[in-house]
Amino acid sequence: MPAIVIVGAQWGDEGKGKATDLLGSRVDYVVKPNGGNNAGHTVVVGGEKFELKLLPAGILSPNATPVIGNGVVVSLDALFHEIDGLEARGADTSRLRISANAHLVAPYHQTMDKVTERFLGKRAIGTTGRGIGPAYMDKVGRLGIRVQDIFDESILRQKIEGALRQKNELLVKLYNRRAVAVDEIAEYFLSFAERLRPMVVDSTLLLNDALDRGDVVLMEGGQATYLDVDHGTYPFVTSSNPTAGGASVGAGIGPTRINRSIGIVKAYTTRVGAGPFPTELFDEWGEFLQETGGEFGVNTGRPRRCGWYDAVMARHAARINGFTDYFLTKLDVLTGIERIPVCVAYDVDGVRHDEMPMTQTEFHHAKPIVEHFPGWTEDISDARTLDDLPENARNYVLALERMSGTRISGIGVGPGRDEVVTVHDLID
Ligand code: GDP
Ligand code: IMO
Ligand code: MG
Repeated sequence: MPAIVIVGAQWGDEGKGKATDLLGSRVDYVVKPNGGNNAGHTVVVGGEKFELKLLPAGILSPNATPVIGNGVVVSLDALFHEIDGLEARGADTSRLRISANAHLVAPYHQTMDKVTERFLGKRAIGTTGRGIGPAYMDKVGRLGIRVQDIFDESILRQKIEGALRQKNELLVKLYNRRAVAVDEIAEYFLSFAERLRPMVVDSTLLLNDALDRGDVVLMEGGQATYLDVDHGTYPFVTSSNPTAGGASVGAGIGPTRINRSIGIVKAYTTRVGAGPFPTELFDEWGEFLQETGGEFGVNTGRPRRCGWYDAVMARHAARINGFTDYFLTKLDVLTGIERIPVCVAYDVDGVRHDEMPMTQTEFHHAKPIVEHFPGWTEDISDARTLDDLPENARNYVLALERMSGTRISGIGVGPGRDEVVTVHDLID
């Protein structure tokens, strides 16, 4: 003990990388439980910026062992590309461990991702195009290929054959693409075998033994609550469970061993890709948040859609993740706004909803009911305690805390590792 989970509370890009990095020097393991190279977690250390896509941001914490959990889908191409990039910048990636049970993203998953999006036309999800959905489809459909399969060539070939039989029919007859050969895929996977082998472990044994010894294990969730395939704005979601319960499954750490569930939430809201977004702004305030907050996707470079803070979403996210704490990021971005709007409830076709509406149709119709909070003009990037914040900034934070029903234990006041107001310790 203890195991700690970090979860995005909105639609991603809340600052999970920064929060992980902040705790990195005090934890022994950092596990990525879900997703794949669709993520983009930024860490800024001493003015130097690192962007992690597949690897947990904890790889930059010299005392922590980074682990890719069983719940992740791994593109080996992306893995070694990222490792080489980090090594070239002087980072040590030799501690990285990968679950033997993690699934692999094959090149045909990426093809399927792209053709499926094209076929959806107006109803496209706006995926990152990394093959994540199709890889999870194969996992759940029991046609997936796992990391361990690479070390048994005969099993590997059988599994590839099974996965390709139906897919080739689809690729050729429906999507007008060329068929994929079993040999081509087998060679692709086998070409990584030697380099991969020393990293592969029984990650659940590793992590549970660590907890038995009293080590601290941090689970760094990818994506976010409203991109969760169960709890998100389905179908505009990713294909994994980025919520706290999903982290338990994706790391193989039982729920009773998790003693902190930390929600990372931005002081406003952003979203990449398609789907409903009640507080989205289409005016100059949207541009203000995008420019001031640097809201451009790490993974695909797409501009992020921006809107005001949504307290209904934050309250619901706290509920389904059992958040013990919130870490509020990017408060500094709101500096200079005279009156800060916050969505406190929804108007759905003339009816007030204080909680998330039950159906997708209602959520699509939700219009924000807004309250305004007085802003501040002082630079807050040097604040390190609540008392260092201007009174109006403090009141804004306390109002968000009240509305979400969860204490705010840390506040980001800039992208750097040290730019944080500590209210309560996140590890105990
Ligand atoms: P993640 O996917 O949740 O890890 O978040 P991203 O890295 O995709 O996006 C968050 C962005 O906000 C990154 O560019 C961070 O460097 C930056 N960031 C994180 N916390 C803060 C903060 O408190 N203030 C400011 N100004 N930037 C922050
Ligand atoms: P981090 O971990 C923001 C979005 C995509 C798309 C949907 C499905 O950096 O917060 P996928 O490729 O997963 O099938 O795409 O999910 N998406 C993210 N948005 N941050 C992320 O990760 C995301 N990962 C996926 O834009 O709308
Ligand atoms: Mg991101």
